[in-house]
Amino acid sequence: MSATATAALLPFHRALIEEEEISAVLEVLRSGWLTTGPRVKEFEAEFAKYTEASHAVAFSSCTAALHLALAAIGITEGDEVIVPTMTFASSGEVVLYFKARPVLVDCQKGSFHVDHEQIARAITGRTRAILPVHFAGYPCDMDAILSIAREHGLKVIEDAAHALPSRYKNKIVGTLGDITCFSFYATKTLTTGEGGMATTENAELAERMRILSLHGISKDAWKRYTAEGTWRYDILETGYKYNLTDLQAALGLAQLAKCDAMRQRRAAIAKRYSEALSPLEAYDVPRAPDHTQHAWHLYVLQVNLAALRIDRNRVIDELKKRGIGTSVHFIPLHLHTLYQRQLGYRSGQFPNAEEKFGRAISLPIYPGLTGQETDRVIEALHDIAREFCA
Ligand SMILES: Cc1ncc(COP(=O)(O)O)c(C=O)c1O
Repeated sequence: MSATATAALLPFHRALIEEEEISAVLEVLRSGWLTTGPRVKEFEAEFAKYTEASHAVAFSSCTAALHLALAAIGITEGDEVIVPTMTFASSGEVVLYFKARPVLVDCQKGSFHVDHEQIARAITGRTRAILPVHFAGYPCDMDAILSIAREHGLKVIEDAAHALPSRYKNKIVGTLGDITCFSFYATKTLTTGEGGMATTENAELAERMRILSLHGISKDAWKRYTAEGTWRYDILETGYKYNLTDLQAALGLAQLAKCDAMRQRRAAIAKRYSEALSPLEAYDVPRAPDHTQHAWHLYVLQVNLAALRIDRNRVIDELKKRGIGTSVHFIPLHLHTLYQRQLGYRSGQFPNAEEKFGRAISLPIYPGLTGQETDRVIEALHDIAREFCA
């Protein structure tokens, strides 16, 4: 295909919504009860079972889950929480909600994952928690992170927005740290449009998150309009309106039932991409350690700048010209205005993250991507490598 021809855009993401999801949502619409109710409770129970967790609390987003996970462990003004710079806005902003400080750390050299040695060096007398991010969908080095946390008496709140279903040494992500937070945002591996879930082994933390997620009202707030419920309620403390709806939970239950099948399909696409692209000098393909299972939420290709006459941004433009939608994960937090103006971070401070960011392109990877569409992406990348080789 010529570089100037415009083809219909192959989107970066397309959710797999089939009859099961549609009829589950219709059933809720017909039931007359749309917000938090029996479907949310069922979704929490099924999600806990799937992640082998003792407790699962549903939220309106992963950001909300991360916020109340930090509230549940008692983060307050002046505390420090260690956060990788290679992450989305949410992981850092939830710390700022408390007037606490997100202490940013770099990636391991050559990796998108946080460097645990730098975590250890960033600990001060004010550090309360570590917030590792399972970037792209395979887990961080959790043995190292948990051992640092134990040694210093810190809590571990995992940002598992990308990590469903992921495994670390045969344990599914969901029970490794103190609280694990998942995202069901539109592009995630399981979607409810917007939504999130926190899992934990600690009943008290679960209860605290549950109460805070619905106005700080005593635990059965959602039941007050049901036959077993009562109109009486007590506001225990300042809470939030962070509840998931039954409409979203119905969608989530249908998606959860095919979570493994959807992962298999993404893994097959990743394999196909890697086989077709690794022989090219122009690109480096992603690799995950053998002791992990990758959820393949993202397939992040790295542009080999020495092998091309163009940079990463231009490769994205060239892909777009060829009708391929892509994205970039992530612009490291320390490069953003907020982090530079308010927290004093500066460009150049975390070279490993900047090096990864400067070469990263996230390719389309979703269960509904057909073999033909996968080939279209591959052909476009081959075409660009031929046209712009150094
Ligand atoms: C690493 C990471 N953490 C947290 C979030 C926030 O998820 P949500 O949109 O469900 O709040 C995202 C969303 O893209 C993310 O990529």
